[in-house]
Amino acid sequence: MFSRLVRPTLVSARNFSTSKQNNFKVAVAGASGGIGQPLSLLLKINPLVTELSLYDIVHTVGVAADLSHIETVGKVKGFNGPDTLLDAFRNADVIIIPAGVPRKPGMTRDDLFNTNAGIVRDLAKAAAEVAPKALIGIITNPVNSTVPIACEILKQAGKFDPNRVFGVTSLDIVRANTFIAEAKGLNPKDVNIPVIGGHSGVTIIPLISRATPSVSFPEDQLKALTGRIQEAGTEVVKAKAGAGSATLSMAYAGARFANSLLRGLKGESNVIEPAYVVSDVTESEYFSTPLLLGKNGLEKNLGLGKLSDYEQELLKAAIPELKKNIKAGVDFATK
Ligand SMILES: NC(=O)c1ccc[n+]([C@@H]2O[C@H](COP(=O)([O-])OP(=O)(O)OC[C@H]3O[C@@H](n4cnc5c(N)ncnc54)[C@H](O)[C@@H]3O)[C@@H](O)[C@H]2O)c1
Repeated sequence: MFSRLVRPTLVSARNFSTSKQNNFKVAVAGASGGIGQPLSLLLKINPLVTELSLYDIVHTVGVAADLSHIETVGKVKGFNGPDTLLDAFRNADVIIIPAGVPRKPGMTRDDLFNTNAGIVRDLAKAAAEVAPKALIGIITNPVNSTVPIACEILKQAGKFDPNRVFGVTSLDIVRANTFIAEAKGLNPKDVNIPVIGGHSGVTIIPLISRATPSVSFPEDQLKALTGRIQEAGTEVVKAKAGAGSATLSMAYAGARFANSLLRGLKGESNVIEPAYVVSDVTESEYFSTPLLLGKNGLEKNLGLGKLSDYEQELLKAAIPELKKNIKAGVDFATK
């Protein structure tokens, strides 16, 4: 199935029609940040985005003024501070959340939990109140826990739909495609590597056995590549030496993800994008696998597919960590 995947794109085909079906309001929460600003730029040049609502607790008015001068159809509006949050989210079709603190060298994504859990909780409450039908894409780490937090908050508000809440894991796929293409001297645009599981360390499971085009590596190189994909975020955190984590590549991946959600909403067929969602394909209550997206968000979970023996081992190592991360999120939201 995955071998026939068409690579998701950053923006839709150049189409400036403003018919009802192509008119979407997208809200970005954390829009002034390292990810938020370039992500908002990429959304501003997406012709499906006719209303771009930028929310943050700082600088949003300036970011919105700057982006609003770009000669594309989307109307940009900045919302600064908690008093403006409900207006920012009101009736959004898609809400993308990169709000929260990033890692510094030596930190794991779990170290961000204490700060970011409360931020995602408050944003999910607002979404439940004013945009209960929105598709929500959560970038804020630790994704393995922040997605369960958002889902629990939506459940408490009676507004939960498991097909509408997604942890954004697209960057893991983007990285895997790039690293495998480099290793084999291929054009990255022709390479597709499914990556499943969660979004931290051992929970990131690249399925190199299912690469398109088919590739193979000696065992030591396969392990090294798998390890590099799992720890690619840390590579960037170290290189930035205290100035944050991946922002530009994440903005690219987030824009690709948002565009896939919009193409699904628009009614395009065969839109496939992986994300971390409520799932019954493994013992983990949340799990990332390729998903078929449509007018109501997740239309069909495409499941695990066949794993090599090595990938089965990776899956075994991931499940207990995922369960621990999920429990932390659920406990936080229900305490
Ligand atoms: N899912 C992924 O693959 C992935 C990849 C990279 C980074 N991340 C995560 O994305 C998040 C953002 O990273 P960044 O580099 O953009 O950080 P950043 O510090 O540059 O930006 C975060 C922004 O969030 C804003 N913010 C803080 N509290 C807020 C609130 N209550 N409401 C709205 N906005 C709020 C800040 O003002 C800031 O502008 C981090 O948690 C990081 O770990 C995820």
